Amino acid sequence: MNKPLDNLNLLVRPMLEADLPSVLKIEKAIYAYPWTHGNFFDCLASGYRCYVLICDGKLIAYAVQMTILDEMHLLNLTVAAVFQKKGVGRYLLESLVSDAISFQAVKMILEVRRFNYAAIFLYESLNFEQIGLRKNYYPTRDGREDAIVMEMSL
Ligand SMILES: CC(C)(COP(=O)(O)OP(=O)(O)OC[C@H]1O[C@@H](n2cnc3c(N)ncnc32)[C@H](O)[C@@H]1OP(=O)(O)O)[C@@H](O)C(=O)NCCC(=O)NCCS
Repeated sequence: MNKPLDNLNLLVRPMLEADLPSVLKIEKAIYAYPWTHGNFFDCLASGYRCYVLICDGKLIAYAVQMTILDEMHLLNLTVAAVFQKKGVGRYLLESLVSDAISFQAVKMILEVRRFNYAAIFLYESLNFEQIGLRKNYYPTRDGREDAIVMEMSL
């Protein structure tokens, strides 16, 4: 791979409460139905595995994982718009997979909007496979959208 990522100085570290303003700025810019401060705060307070990706001191991506017994559930994976399509999402997801393996999880599970092809292609490229469909799971401006449930064995 010879993507612009090669020129980026990236660091993945645990998310802190102090990161939430930067996280929320990205979250609100990206999603029509963004998570709230309370959602992220609760994830941190509950001990979910929350990470941020720092590029030259700037927070450009983040992720939230939740453990259920020996499963790792990916709840949020987001890259700031101007840093998308540079390999950042793949880099962060690969570090989440490593995190799940170090936790000795046996699988990773996630839900993704049925028409979110960028995310679906990313997950498929890391060998996530569709294991289910939740009808009308997500709100949209003009109705509801299905969720594809994907899983990867570790
Ligand atoms: C989905 C997302 C995390 C991908 O991150 P990214 O940094 O843009 O993706 P990368 O540059 O690492 O690309 C990795 C792979 O994803 C796929 N991909 C990424 N963007 C794509 C696009 N616009 N169209 C098609 N495939 C795309 C490709 O398979 C790509 O591999 P390739 O470049 O070798 O073809 C990012 O687009 C994002 O934050 N989107 C908004 C939030 C979101 O939808 N999160 C997922 C919720 S389940």
